[in-house]
Amino acid sequence: MYQTAYHDRDLSQFSVLITGGAGFIGSNLVEYFLKYGAKKVRVIDNFLTGFRENLAPYMDHPNFELIEGDISVLADCEKACEGMDAVCHQAALGSVPRSVAQPHLTTLHNVNGFVNMVHAAHQAGIKRFVYASSSSVYGDEPNLPKVEDRIGQQLSPYAITKYSNELFAKNFGDLYGMEFMGFRYFNVFGPKQSPKGAYAAVIPLFAEACLLGKTAYINGDGLQTRDFTFIENVVQMNVKALLTENPAAYNQVYNVGVGGRYSVLDLYEGIRKAAGSEQAPVHRESRAGDIRDSQANIEKAKTLLEYNPLFSFEEGLAITVQHFKQLLKA
Ligand SMILES: NC(=O)c1ccc[n+]([C@@H]2O[C@H](COP(=O)([O-])OP(=O)(O)OC[C@H]3O[C@@H](n4cnc5c(N)ncnc54)[C@H](O)[C@@H]3O)[C@@H](O)[C@H]2O)c1
Repeated sequence: MYQTAYHDRDLSQFSVLITGGAGFIGSNLVEYFLKYGAKKVRVIDNFLTGFRENLAPYMDHPNFELIEGDISVLADCEKACEGMDAVCHQAALGSVPRSVAQPHLTTLHNVNGFVNMVHAAHQAGIKRFVYASSSSVYGDEPNLPKVEDRIGQQLSPYAITKYSNELFAKNFGDLYGMEFMGFRYFNVFGPKQSPKGAYAAVIPLFAEACLLGKTAYINGDGLQTRDFTFIENVVQMNVKALLTENPAAYNQVYNVGVGGRYSVLDLYEGIRKAAGSEQAPVHRESRAGDIRDSQANIEKAKTLLEYNPLFSFEEGLAITVQHFKQLLKA
């Protein structure tokens, strides 16, 4: 992966803090920045939902540093920000159903953690701060595709925490003169996403089920649609935002998707075929707090950040299933 460089700047003088770097998206960002010679890639992670194995290949890299710390603790954030040029904030407690079951924990990590990180970055003199929001911010807004300035009522505590990040970013951008860019990710998938735990994302679960002959569960009728987005497109967006010199791009939120729309049944079929499985899925109850349909309009990111997603849903799925095949063989 990452055969294409999404930047033209020399990174040998660029130090970036990746929060949540042991997680799925964060560890892919670590891979990119080390591959292209960043001066320093520092991760802060408390391993709540992240994995040491995601960072294992980089532990001995001279430009890599891991801080085992918690963003809900201000002192940890201050330590993490020291000497950094930019913050790439991915740490959060993901999952809509988890936030319905444990809203206090989601709020602690996603809201307090966010404010701590921004405060620490500001104190350390860091201006550039890009962060993960979520397409769940759109809530019950019915129109497709989703455009950034038209949102509805959020449908879960998780979505509210992500929307609050956007509100804080807007305010702190004005107050502190910082350069925020927030990303409404649309169902990201790819290598290093975990099938483990009660709140695992659906794609690694389907892949594991089809490859190992386990049961694959589909919530509801499976006709709910999503703009499933391959991880390399998401990394591209983060890279472009972290390095852009276009002031019109600062203090904005962006959809990060591909602009496609596939049902969960389409998804299951794609994975089943790529895995060479004959197995049918089992349907169960729909989940509370879930959006029915989702699809990104990505014009804003294209215009302001020259975002150009190179990987289609099908290409991403093929790479992902191949990755899980190799992992399960090992
Ligand atoms: N994966 C998706 O489809 C998707 C969609 C929308 C938004 N997002 C957002 O993107 C970001 C990354 O998601 P991901 O899929 O990589 O999730 P992930 O769970 O794999 O990674 C999150 C990482 O943050 C760490 N973390 C959580 N709380 C922390 C804390 N208090 N202190 C330090 N580290 C902490 C976890 O240990 C984990 O390594 C999250 O903010 C998530 O809400 C993801």
